[in-house]
Amino acid sequence: MTEISENKAPVLTIDGPSGAGKGAVSAVVAERLGWHLLDSGAVYRAVALAAIDREVDPGDDDALTRLCADLDLTFEPGADGISVVLDGRPVDERLRSEAVSIMASKVASRPPVRRALLGLQRSFRQPPGLVADGRDMGTVVFEDAPVKVFLDASVEVRARRRHKQLKEKGESVKFSRLFRDLAERDRRDRDRAVSPTVPAADAVVIDSTELTLDEVVGRLLDLVEARLGREKEN
Ligand code: C5P
Repeated sequence: MTEISENKAPVLTIDGPSGAGKGAVSAVVAERLGWHLLDSGAVYRAVALAAIDREVDPGDDDALTRLCADLDLTFEPGADGISVVLDGRPVDERLRSEAVSIMASKVASRPPVRRALLGLQRSFRQPPGLVADGRDMGTVVFEDAPVKVFLDASVEVRARRRHKQLKEKGESVKFSRLFRDLAERDRRDRDRAVSPTVPAADAVVIDSTELTLDEVVGRLLDLVEARLGREKEN
């Protein structure tokens, strides 16, 4: 089922807006398939964190280009899965703050940043396969992926999930503010000129509003099985 076509490892792309459950779903599916995992949001968040720390203006393309060229970013196995290491230090906690979320969606709208991060993201495509979580995995980064999914959910449900996550981490954010910021971030991600968050023409759209994590995982595994099983027969 994980046979490699045209010398390229298969990719399952999982795109969609924040809080649709992509992170949890991708981690479980990658584990079940024994495939690699790319959390492309973490790549944009790392650039955002570096921009905040170095006081780079998210509107200054030249400074952002230099920042990306100098980026010392690695993904290393850690106690709780993969750890994001920036300039030699694990930054997982800081990456998930609201300030970084907002900055990430700003730097992600800049074309030089998106171009600079393409090679790094594509380098994750290794046998036996890759689960790629993001916004433009199926439309741009892995356009030729054999299996593409767009995971959606209502803004209300996504804001509730995010609120719960932040509360569990001890970060207190008002729900009304979170809802507004999420809707704003969605708008910026969806309406931007480069790589907007939209389903690829050949993506299967799944609305997770009424589904459990296990149900979504089950659907994705069925899709991979059906698609790659068919490829193997041909
Ligand atoms: O998925 P996550 O919330 O971690 O992503 C943070 C931000 O990074 C998103 O709001 C989006 O602006 C940006 N992003 C992107 N393209 C991706 C992944 C994330 O533009 N493939």
